Amino acid sequence: MPSFVAPITPHGGKLINQLRIEGPAAAALYERALVAPLVQISEVILSDLELIAIGVVSPLTGFMDRSAYQSVLEHMHLPDGLPWTIPITLPVSADVVNRLRVGQDVALADPAGRIVGLLELSDIFRYDKTAEAEAVYRTTDDKHPGVARLYAQGDHYLAGNVWMLVEPVASFPDLAYTPLQTRELFSQRGWRQIVAFQTRNPIHRAHEYLQKCALEMVDGLLLHPLVGETKGDDIPADVRVESYRAVLEHYYPASRVLLAAFPAAMRYAGPREAVFHAICRKNYGCTHFIVGRDHAGVGNYYGTYDAQLIFREFDPELIGITPLMFEHAFHCHACGQVVTAKTCPHDSTQWLHLSGTQVRQKLLAGELLPLEFTRPEVSRILMRGMDTSR
Ligand code: ADX
Repeated sequence: MPSFVAPITPHGGKLINQLRIEGPAAAALYERALVAPLVQISEVILSDLELIAIGVVSPLTGFMDRSAYQSVLEHMHLPDGLPWTIPITLPVSADVVNRLRVGQDVALADPAGRIVGLLELSDIFRYDKTAEAEAVYRTTDDKHPGVARLYAQGDHYLAGNVWMLVEPVASFPDLAYTPLQTRELFSQRGWRQIVAFQTRNPIHRAHEYLQKCALEMVDGLLLHPLVGETKGDDIPADVRVESYRAVLEHYYPASRVLLAAFPAAMRYAGPREAVFHAICRKNYGCTHFIVGRDHAGVGNYYGTYDAQLIFREFDPELIGITPLMFEHAFHCHACGQVVTAKTCPHDSTQWLHLSGTQVRQKLLAGELLPLEFTRPEVSRILMRGMDTSR
């Protein structure tokens, strides 16, 4: 008989639930929101609200106050000593701040003007954008997409506990699993060790190699594409999701894989975001997390393995989830398989490399990418995706 193994403990000990959509408590919060001053939030903040509400960023119950924010920026830990690397904050402009005072309720409205949340305003503070850029993104260059978003937002942060008062809108309803739901599903399937894979790209053979190497060692794979806001030239989520569905159907054992959507926005914060991604997946109930080359990176802002090295700066017990580090993987013609420099004895003349530009040119010309690079099902989906975006 299998012995009982407790699921991994959420970050900070308890899975947070700040979603109030039915019952008298929800009605009372909604009444409060109706008479409170209204602050409109962006799609990105709306996705952060959802992360808080469904417990993805447990133990956070709201947007960070000054002391939590400073502690995260300067020490990569919350004031109570728990690892945390990315500020979860609510930026607003000075004219919004002028209408508010600490201690008040604030109703949060989505970009369409619909009330979606209630904030118990406990702190308002001005912050230094350059300092945040330097600490979180390791650059102050406004060409970095995360830094550009930071520079474009308001100069003040509102903080306090929040409740989400509406059901989050899922871009892929059949892939919308909360941390509570993935945890239940893992337990139903009898998975004790689960590896999560974060991605913002269509699935290619190196991804598949990483996932399957990891799956050899654990019980299940959570394939967890990020579907929140990404930069304009990233491949749209619907095209990417179609690629995951296609490869899962043909090349993965359904009983060992769960495809689910990760509703966060991309920050492109490289190393710090890798730790953040890992902690979120721990809250979803995963025990392992894949970190490959340049995780959550963009351009040349981070070293290839910075997102792996950063894990050394934390107590592994406090991180809780185990990072599985992979070197840069690619196909080697002489080996006849996907390899890394760790496992291949040949030189780079044998290695298949295609630049982003080469990939685009081939697809635009209606040419399938080499099978060793991307499966034909995915090539066809990418070609169709390009047709519709032209
Ligand atoms: S990310 O922004 O979500 O990290 P991407 O979807 O490209 O981007 O990567 C998903 C995961 O796969 C990350 O952990 C990344 O480091 C890893 N990865 C992507 N391509 C490779 C590769 N060729 N070799 C090793 N790791 C890779």
